[in-house]
Amino acid sequence: MTKTLRKAVLPVAGLGTRFLPATKATAKEMLPVVDKPLIQYAVEEARAAGIEQFCLVTGRGKTGIVEHFDVAFELEATLRERNKLRELAMLHESASEPGSIITVRQQVPLGLGHAIWCARAFVGDDPFAILLPDDLVLSETPCLKQLADVYAKTGGNVVAVTEVPREQTNRYGILEVGEDDGRLVEVRGLVEKPDPAVAPSNLSIIGRYVLVAEVMTHLARMERGAGNEVQLTDAMAKLIGRTPFHGLRYEGRRFDCGDKVGFLEAQIAFALKRPDLGPAVRRFLRDYTDEAVAAGA
Ligand code: UTP
Repeated sequence: MTKTLRKAVLPVAGLGTRFLPATKATAKEMLPVVDKPLIQYAVEEARAAGIEQFCLVTGRGKTGIVEHFDVAFELEATLRERNKLRELAMLHESASEPGSIITVRQQVPLGLGHAIWCARAFVGDDPFAILLPDDLVLSETPCLKQLADVYAKTGGNVVAVTEVPREQTNRYGILEVGEDDGRLVEVRGLVEKPDPAVAPSNLSIIGRYVLVAEVMTHLARMERGAGNEVQLTDAMAKLIGRTPFHGLRYEGRRFDCGDKVGFLEAQIAFALKRPDLGPAVRRFLRDYTDEAVAAGA
C-alpha cells in the first residue's frame, strides 16, 4: 500500500554566491518575490499538497529563516495596538503549527545530496517531498500538489520535469525517457549536468520531488559526482528499476530564482498577477519599454 505523503525536506544551506552581496548576511531563501520570501512560497505550496511536517536543512547565517516561521510576539502586540489587522493576519500566515518545523544543520555545503542526507532521521522510513525554494512555480494547481496526486496513484518516486534548450542540459539533472504519454514520463535513467552532446534528452528535473526513503541508503555512500558534490540525482538514479519512477510535466511556469534573470522575471510575473499591483506594473513596463525603444536602448 502507498504510504501517505506527510513530510517535506527543504534544503536551504547553499551559499547563494550568485546573489552576493545580497546574500552576505541574509539567506538567499529570505529574498522576497514581491513581498513574500522564497521560503514562505515553498512552505505554503507544501502545505497545499498535504504536507504537515517540515525539515529545514540550514547552515551558517540562516537563522533568519527559522525566525520567520516563529510567532513575532512584540510585533503582533504593536500591530494589535495600532489596529493594523490586515498586517496581523499576514503575520499569522507565516507562523507555523507548534512543532511542525524542525531544523537540522548541514555544517559544510557538500552538495544537494549531502543536504538531503542530513535529514535522514526526520525522514525515517517514510516517503518525503523535497522543495528547492529557489524554484518558484506559478500554476493553477500548486506544483507539489500535482506531484502528490500522481504519487497517490503510482507510488514510488515522482519528479517535476520540464523541457530545456538542448545547449543548457549541462546545468540540470536530465532524464533518460521510457514510456511517455505527453504528461507522465517513465524514468529510465538520470544524469546530472550532462554535456549537450551526450545528454539522453532535454527533459530536466526542477526543484520538486517525491521520493522513497531508500534514497538515503544511496546518499549515505557519499559518492561525489558532477562538480565534486554529493549529487541527489546520482542517488535517485540507483532507485530506477526498484520502485516506480515517473517524471511529471507539471502545469505551470517555473522561475529559477537562484539566477538573477529568473528572479527578476518572477518579480514581474508575480506582481502582474496581483490585483493591487498588476495594473501599475503593466503600465510601467509598457511605458518604460516604449521610452527605452525611443531612446535606442
Ligand atoms: P544551488 O545550486 O542554487 O546552490 O542550490 P546555492 O549555493 O544555493 O547558490 P549559488 O549557486 O552559490 O548561487 C540548490 C538548493 O540546494 C541547497 C540550496 O540552499 C538551494 O536550496 N543546497 C545546495 C544545500 O542546502 N546544500 C548544499 O550543499 C548545496
